[in-house]
Amino acid sequence: MFEIIASSVLGYLLGSIPFGLVLTRLAGLGDIRKIGSGNIGATNVLRTGNKPLALATLLLDSGKGAIAALLALAWAGPEAAAVAAGGAMLGHTFPVWLGFKGGKGVATALGVLLAISWPVGIIACLTWLAMALLFRISSLSALTALGLSPLVGWYFGGGLVAGLCLFIAVLVFIRHDANIRRLLKGEEPKITLSKKTAA
Ligand code: G3P
Repeated sequence: MFEIIASSVLGYLLGSIPFGLVLTRLAGLGDIRKIGSGNIGATNVLRTGNKPLALATLLLDSGKGAIAALLALAWAGPEAAAVAAGGAMLGHTFPVWLGFKGGKGVATALGVLLAISWPVGIIACLTWLAMALLFRISSLSALTALGLSPLVGWYFGGGLVAGLCLFIAVLVFIRHDANIRRLLKGEEPKITLSKKTAA
């Protein structure tokens, strides 16, 4: 029991590091929460026009989820890894340091899935990429990739992985409520590689 509780705390603390916010502040770009969609994730960092910073945000937000899951796996096994993964998702989306107003969890989810079950992670990444190439809408790509993940998780990893994927999908859909409303109205902005401050 101690391992499970400690894994969830470790996951939450790692997940709660708001890399997008920290990196954009360090780069002198101001508060990312006042730019574009206001999200602290890589898609919104890309709207500043700084591509390396967006890539760094993507890698660090993914990496913190993967590291949380891998550390717990090595220490206490698959159940602890799944709990740490869930903790990392909660840490990213509801970080105590930002008054529980965090990101939408997509990059962290991809990192977590790659660590917990690499086929599920790879399929989620490829689905995101295919949807992004087809429609050029980040939120739609994420909702499709993570919405399908419980089924993919069940096929490749059984109940534990499917349960984690379902938890992740529900969290990501909840955090994309504004995006879903814009998608339904046909008003969701497309991914742009040039600087854009309105979303
Ligand atoms: O990864 C987050 C993405 O799905 C949506 O981001 O900034 O367009 O709301 P954003």
